[in-house]
Amino acid sequence: MTAPLLAVRDLRVVFPTRAGLVRAVSDVSLEVAAGETLGIVGESGSGKSVSAQAMLGLLPLPGRVTGGEILWRGRPLGDAAGLRGREIACVFQDPMQSLNPLMTIGAQLVETLRHHHGLSRRAARDRAAELLAEVALSAPARRLDQYPHELSGGILQRVALALALACEPALLIADEPTTALDVTVQAEILDLLAGLQARRGLAVILITHDLGVVAGLCHRVAVMYAGRVVETGEIDALFANPAHPYTQGLLRATPGLDNRTERLVAIDGAPPSLRAPPAGCPFRPRCPIADAACLAPPPFAATDTGRAACWRAGAAAWAEVAP
Ligand SMILES: Nc1ncnc2c1ncn2[C@@H]1O[C@H](COP(=O)(O)OP(=O)(O)O)[C@@H](O)[C@H]1O
Ligand SMILES: [Mg+2]
Repeated sequence: MTAPLLAVRDLRVVFPTRAGLVRAVSDVSLEVAAGETLGIVGESGSGKSVSAQAMLGLLPLPGRVTGGEILWRGRPLGDAAGLRGREIACVFQDPMQSLNPLMTIGAQLVETLRHHHGLSRRAARDRAAELLAEVALSAPARRLDQYPHELSGGILQRVALALALACEPALLIADEPTTALDVTVQAEILDLLAGLQARRGLAVILITHDLGVVAGLCHRVAVMYAGRVVETGEIDALFANPAHPYTQGLLRATPGLDNRTERLVAIDGAPPSLRAPPAGCPFRPRCPIADAACLAPPPFAATDTGRAACWRAGAAAWAEVAP
């Protein structure tokens, strides 16, 4: 059996703050195989970005990993110096997080290509134009001389992708890459990601609050709630038979995904504070089928293609809404 590309085991991340310890990520375990696309889905504040930052070694202060491990090709991530910039690349909601406003697109790509591959200036410029063509930008040679402020959000996200690809990564972590874009452009970027994933055999972790975004693109999904992974599974199985009450609720609240009811129904209440999370299952206060056993939830129950952290995994948690 070959080791997964990236394996996260029982990861814990906390932020000590004046108001108390924020338990941003608790016991998160994930795996991504080469060439696979994993979606990480959950409401805002569920710990998706902090998990990604830990995987990238980019945790902002005062964040601290207090438990678990992150393995890259079977070895602790910390062992492989310089790996982050080479084999794991990232794009964010705001492409300007990876772009320099004072440099032309070409200069940024050329600098990265020369640094990583030791190319001559001339060869790097040719390669830069190829990368822009790969992310489906028209007139790539002309784009090289443009500055970020001359470009729209969708184009900038393509440029950020080209920059990420310049290092020839094995894994791309994309954190809400389409959240700031309008629907048409969002679909184009998701198509582009699917194409890159297929052509390059790139592994992708796609992070989003929107289940609709993972639907078309991901092989597997991890659903996060209050800093924990509450359910994982293959995408079709998870959409057809969501096991965790939270996943069921999320599906009911997402347009176009739940074919059992025409109506969209938001989950009542709000996620718990990560400073003082409730005892037991974090979803317990909002869960319609919670009982005393949920004060000590199971670590994980097996589902058809994954697992769910619920005693009653698979039971229908939400009554149908009368028409
Ligand atoms: N720099 C920080 N200082 C304190 N708390 C933080 C910091 N960054 C994130 N958090 C907390 O960690 C939790 C998870 O945040 P995040 O991973 O950004 O959520 P998501 O990406 O799922 O919306 C949130 O409660 C957030 O307030
Ligand atoms: Mg986030």
